[in-house]
Amino acid sequence: MALDPRRSEIWKALGIGPEWILREEEGEPERQAASPRAACPASGHQDAIARAAVPPVSAPTPSAPRPAPVSGVPETLREDRFVPPAPRSASAATRPAQAAPAPATRAPSDAAFLSEVDSADWERLEALLRDCKCCGLSRTRIKTVFADGRPGCPIVMVGEAPGADEDIQGKPFVGKSGQLLTQALGAVGLERGTDVAIINVLKCRPPHNRDPRPEEVSVCRHFLDRQLALLAPKVLVLMGRPAASAVLGTDQPISRLRGSVHQAEISGRTVPAIVTYHPSYLLRSLTEKEKCWHDLLLAKRTLAGAAPQA
Ligand code: URA
Repeated sequence: MALDPRRSEIWKALGIGPEWILREEEGEPERQAASPRAACPASGHQDAIARAAVPPVSAPTPSAPRPAPVSGVPETLREDRFVPPAPRSASAATRPAQAAPAPATRAPSDAAFLSEVDSADWERLEALLRDCKCCGLSRTRIKTVFADGRPGCPIVMVGEAPGADEDIQGKPFVGKSGQLLTQALGAVGLERGTDVAIINVLKCRPPHNRDPRPEEVSVCRHFLDRQLALLAPKVLVLMGRPAASAVLGTDQPISRLRGSVHQAEISGRTVPAIVTYHPSYLLRSLTEKEKCWHDLLLAKRTLAGAAPQA
């Protein structure tokens, strides 16, 4: 059979042999070595390789069945059929390709750790938090973020989770939304750290400030519950939906929840709770600032024992 000399030269240079092969040559070792699989396809040569693998004119022999190539691309080169090379050794076959990530939880010792959290005093609780590896956020955080303020502050405000600035400084609400919060408190005559303690539902920053995941909230609530028990607030202020949901167990929107005094259960005690917008929402929606100001005034009146107003 005649060969196209120019094409054959190119294919020869690629190490893939001539255009046509005779049926009886298929099983020969030389042909196997020069097959497209052995020729290691570089993408720029795909066309030539695909054409080089045009099946023989006659049907394959029954002893060497070969599926028909699709669209002219040899079976072995089709991306959707790519079979990775066999592992080099038996141990490599059982070894995972990448080191498995460290487990997010420390089961079974988590139970002992969390039971210590449930009964720790304020200082011990902060130390335990620094050591916490109960969820995946422990692998991405820079610092744990415990609290601003301590037991004795009559008002406790609860936010969602630390952001980038808090992650670096290890203190809640120190970034832009924190500055707005400090201003809002100042506007009603309240001071952070003395009148008001500030904590979050999550104590570690979620990557890219994504929403807290239910499993993170559920494990971190051991810290939240213990903090609330030790802080024993006279009034709670819940900032944003995740805080309202974690403490009041409701998923209603803030617009519905704000403006009235709710009842939160803390260590068997009923504590008045006011819901307001999260400060980072106020940064985006300045018209709502006034509502937050009213909510903080309501918290102050509630603390003073005045009748709550809607
Ligand atoms: N947002 C929060 O909910 N908490 C912080 O500490 C900072 C930003």
